[in-house]
Parts: sequence; C-alpha cells; structure tokens
Amino acid sequence: MVTIVERYMQKFKKSAQLYRQGEDTIPGGGHQSRVVHPFPHYVNEARGALKWDVDGNELVDYNMGFGALLIGHAHPVMVEAVSKQLAKGSHMGTPSELELRWAELIKDAMPTAERVRFTSSGTESTYLAIKLARAYTGKKMLIKFHEHYHGWHDYVSKSSGLNTQIGIPDETLSTVIVAQPDVAEVEQILENRDDIAAVIFEATGAHWGQFPLPNPKFVHDIRALTAKHGVVMIMDEVICGFRISRGGAQSRFDVKPDLTTMAKIVAGGLPGGAVAGRGDILDSISSPDETTRIPHPGTFNGNPISAAAGIAVLELIATEPINERADTMADLLKQSLRDSLTKLEVTGHVYGISSIVNLALGAECSCSGEICTLPHPELAASMHGDKTTLIKLAMLNEGVDTMGGIGFMLSSAHTENEVGRTVEAFERSLTALRNDGIL
Ligand SMILES: Cc1ncc(COP(=O)(O)O)c(C=O)c1O
Repeated sequence: MVTIVERYMQKFKKSAQLYRQGEDTIPGGGHQSRVVHPFPHYVNEARGALKWDVDGNELVDYNMGFGALLIGHAHPVMVEAVSKQLAKGSHMGTPSELELRWAELIKDAMPTAERVRFTSSGTESTYLAIKLARAYTGKKMLIKFHEHYHGWHDYVSKSSGLNTQIGIPDETLSTVIVAQPDVAEVEQILENRDDIAAVIFEATGAHWGQFPLPNPKFVHDIRALTAKHGVVMIMDEVICGFRISRGGAQSRFDVKPDLTTMAKIVAGGLPGGAVAGRGDILDSISSPDETTRIPHPGTFNGNPISAAAGIAVLELIATEPINERADTMADLLKQSLRDSLTKLEVTGHVYGISSIVNLALGAECSCSGEICTLPHPELAASMHGDKTTLIKLAMLNEGVDTMGGIGFMLSSAHTENEVGRTVEAFERSLTALRNDGIL
C-alpha cells in the first residue's frame, strides 16, 4: 500500500523540483511555518476558498494567508480597490486621505482605539507597542506568557514557539519575564516588583487559540491587576482582531486594553499593521518634547496600497455579515469533524473560537468546544509528533490545505460545499493515518 509520504511525493512532483531548485538560493526554502517535510507545496493562484498549486492540484484553503484573509482570496471588492489605487500611485511620500479613512474605520470598530499608528506587520506592531509602554512608564521589564507568539523581534522571542534565542543579546532577554497564563503568578510578580512596564498576551491564547487562556475571566483579571499597578496592558489582536468579532477580542470579551496590536485582516490581507489605544500613551510619538518623543518612521507604514485594501475589507466587515458567515461555516466544520472522529472511532477533540477551528488528535475534553479547558501540556502533547506532520500531508493528498495539519482558518468565502469536501478528505486522511500505523 502507498504511504502518505509516497503519495505526497507523487502528487506534488513539481513542488519537489522547485524546492530542490531553491535550496542554494533561499535558506530553508522560505517562511519556517510554510516549509513542511519532505518539501512544501508551491501555489500560484487562489480565489475564494480555493487555491491551485504548480502541479495543477486544487486545494480547499484553511490557511487563508495565516489568518489574514477573512473574506477569502482575491475578493473582487478588494482587488478593485487595490488595482484602482495602484494605477493612481503606490507611494506619494506624504500622508494620504486613505490613511486617515483607514484609521477612522479602525476607531469605529475597536472600542479602545483613541489613536492609531500604522506599521508594516504584526511583528512591528508588538515592537512599537512595547516601546510605547516602556517610554510611558519609564520602566523596562515586560511580562509575556508561555508560548504566546507576538512575531519574531527580540523582545518577544522567549517561549514563543520559535524555540531559539540565538542572535539575541542576554541583556535584551533579561528584560522579559515569561509567566504562565495564571493570574496568581502575574499578581505575585506585580506585587513584588516595581519595574514592570507592560503585560502582553494573545487575546485568545497562545498560537491563535490552540492553547486558550484559562477562562474568560482571565483577561478581566489581568486588566484589573495591570490597572492597579500602573502597568500597560497590551492585547495582541493580530490574529483575532476583526475576526472573533468586528471589534475583536476587546468587544467580544468587553475588556479595555491600553494598547492593541493588529495586522493581517486590518490591512485587508496585504502587508500592514497597526497599534491603537490610549491617546496619552500613543501621543509620545507626537510629543513636542524631544526627550520623551518616540520616533516612528517606516517607509511603507500607512502606504496607500495597504490602506486601500484595509479600507475595502473593513468597510465590507462593517456592512455585510462577513463574520457571521465565516463563524457559521466554522461551526458546521467543527460539528462535522467531531462526527467523523466518532464515526471512525478515533479519539480527538475539535474546538475553537469564532472562525478558528483547532483539532487535537488523541485528546478528549468535555468543554463546550469553543474555549477548550484542557490544560496546555495535554493539548500540546496531542499535537506533537508524527500525527500532526502526517495529517498535514494526508489532507494535502486529499485536496485540503490546513494550518499545520491541525488548524483551520475560515473565511466568508467558505461554503457548505468546501466544508463537505473537507470532511470527506478528513475521513480519508484518518484512514490513511491508520494504514500508516500512526493512529
Ligand atoms: C498573535 C500574533 N502576533 C503577532 C504576529 C506577528 O505578525 P507578522 O507575522 O505580521 O509579523 C502574529 C503572526 O502570526 C500573531 O499571530
């Protein structure tokens, strides 16, 4: 019988060739989460919920630009807005009306956005937010949580899933405290130290909610604690902003962070990000006093092309049931995947908030299936090893591209048709895993 890997090698031959061709040119073949073993698949074209690779395979996409594409690939409204702006000019070297409109749309959606500054990525957004918090408080220490991912700059690399601190000076690392997402632990740190500038966390839990925060009260407890100690609370909404509700996690959980970091959907799926929040903190960028002013240049920050895409998508989210559509399809997918596990007698748990769906093969939990209550180590254990790597390949063999094998980002472009195809692919993939002796 043909194994999962053998079938993958047959089906994605041209991708294998391209990977080999690039080995001496692009170290590692590219973005580390895009490159899978034995080689990644190369995609040329995408529309709606589908994409087509260089071997001519059609794939249902659940990567959705790592969560950036809430309205699907190449949505006509977004394509038109960007094409029109491209023809008019891509960079004027001045502020633009577009930038202002874009910022106003963010203010309109995000309850705590008194001010907005644009960046070019989520990494830049968290970098700027941390710097603003340090400048505002005059303190240097940052608390982040175990496994929470905030991009790849030096201040957030500790315990982020990147698994290395090579190239980062010890002095930099020594300004960051990694805590468990445990209110008592944070309280103890804040009671015993007076040098903490900020607490930063992923608003739905580590790695886009794969490891959810312990309970819905958590963000409110952290809010109360940080307010009590004069510490800036930075809520990282790079993934969940505009996705888990139009107003992000802060609207959904009714909590008021001091600063919010955004990227992905905010820029309509193009490169871009933003930091929004309290005027008195962000205004250090415009301080008349040079000794307290934070510099914030950046050639492509707030550029007209990303602004045009951001405006098109944020307007669509404000006027059409985009979130509702994506959430409904995610609910259907969650329930269908659970049914498949039961049918094939495979132990596993499916959960996730809004339009994000997570799969934990081998885990069992009686939670409601939204914010999973299994402890982090148990969830992590279910995601390690061959199962996760091979289900990614098995699903690709069956025409479905997931986020790392165990995640599904939905969009308003997904329909019952794609969900149906996915469930069939999932059942065939479980059988393939069983045949390979993995399950
Ligand atoms: C929660 C979170 N913060 C920050 C980032 C970094 O964003 P970027 O990849 O745009 O630098 C990501 C990226 O996935 C993210 O998920």
